[in-house]
Amino acid sequence: MKGIILHGGHGTRLRPLTHTGPKQLLPIANKPMSQYALEDLKISGITEIGIIIGDVYPEKVKEYYGTGEKFGVKITYIYQDTPKGISHAIRLCKDFIDDDKFVVYLGDNVLRKNLIDYTKKFQTSDSDAMILLCEVDEPQRFGIAELDKNKHGKIKKIMEKPKNPPSNLAVIGIYFLTSKIFDIIDNLKPSWRGELEITDALDMLMNQGNKIEYNTVTGWWKDTGTPEDIIHANKLVLDSIGTENQFLIDTDTEIKDNIVIGKGTEISRDSFITGPVIIGKNCKIGPSVRIGPYVSIGDNCKLQQCEIQDSIIMADCTVNAKVDFSCSIIAHGSEIEDSNIPKKHQFLLGERSQLKL
Ligand code: TTP
Repeated sequence: MKGIILHGGHGTRLRPLTHTGPKQLLPIANKPMSQYALEDLKISGITEIGIIIGDVYPEKVKEYYGTGEKFGVKITYIYQDTPKGISHAIRLCKDFIDDDKFVVYLGDNVLRKNLIDYTKKFQTSDSDAMILLCEVDEPQRFGIAELDKNKHGKIKKIMEKPKNPPSNLAVIGIYFLTSKIFDIIDNLKPSWRGELEITDALDMLMNQGNKIEYNTVTGWWKDTGTPEDIIHANKLVLDSIGTENQFLIDTDTEIKDNIVIGKGTEISRDSFITGPVIIGKNCKIGPSVRIGPYVSIGDNCKLQQCEIQDSIIMADCTVNAKVDFSCSIIAHGSEIEDSNIPKKHQFLLGERSQLKL
């Protein structure tokens, strides 16, 4: 079985963070979110992986994953010139997939339970597709499956972001498919938002008499479309650090209870860290810093005098200010320093920055 990771799209809801790279490389607990997908495929025995790259800095994806050797997989890159939809991206993989069964993993989806059992099940099943469902609070935001009340185990309809959802069962961004899907996509019309939708392809597959199985997942699943979603995903992953295979930390770190500290990181005696927290390598923390809970700090950060909760600070950032912040995402190389002039702030903010004072 082969795997496809979708690494395209524009990530407009995550601007300005996606002005300088694809959203799937944004870190959750110090690891690019698409790496969770890649590792999940790998532990399920899927090592031949196609990565769909789009027009937002695709070279950064290639630079990070390379041939895949470092990650124990073999990667083929497939270009999607413009984000014309998930089904459009899947159709581009026809030659790569050939007649194999395959799994499509959206690179911005993180699932707590790994795919080992689902992959085994699909490998031996005669179904033409298998989807995973998860109960959600706001079904209007997701692709939704309506189950057939009269036939146990059967799906009645699959629809994209319905205004009046018939169920709260969201279709997770991990699809088990066969090559039958390609002909279906060839006959698909773009939706009102101009995209070839995966939900329409699945619905058409089903309506043409093909068999679609579903599983309802337990544990959490996160689709990280917005900054709030990313902060929430960071929290969920930090909560399960070290408890699940795909959330294990690399060996270059020290773990004390639920605090993970990278090599070469120094923390001053008067600083306090309340886990779960992950701090990268070669950071200088202190004096007078309070971190946590639910904070991820990338490599080479220098933090002084600040208090941080529920936040992601990416690598190479400096915070030297008496500030207390939470629910924040600070991108690579940012600096926050106290102004010399009391009560005056000075800002240098990129396009679509957000500041809540
Ligand atoms: P979306 O979150 O629906 O789209 P997006 O990433 O462009 O974000 P936004 O709506 O904020 O502009 O995409 C879901 C996943 O599928 C995500 O990992 C990106 C990927 N994708 C592609 O690879 N190609 C596509 O054509 C589309 C639409 C999405």
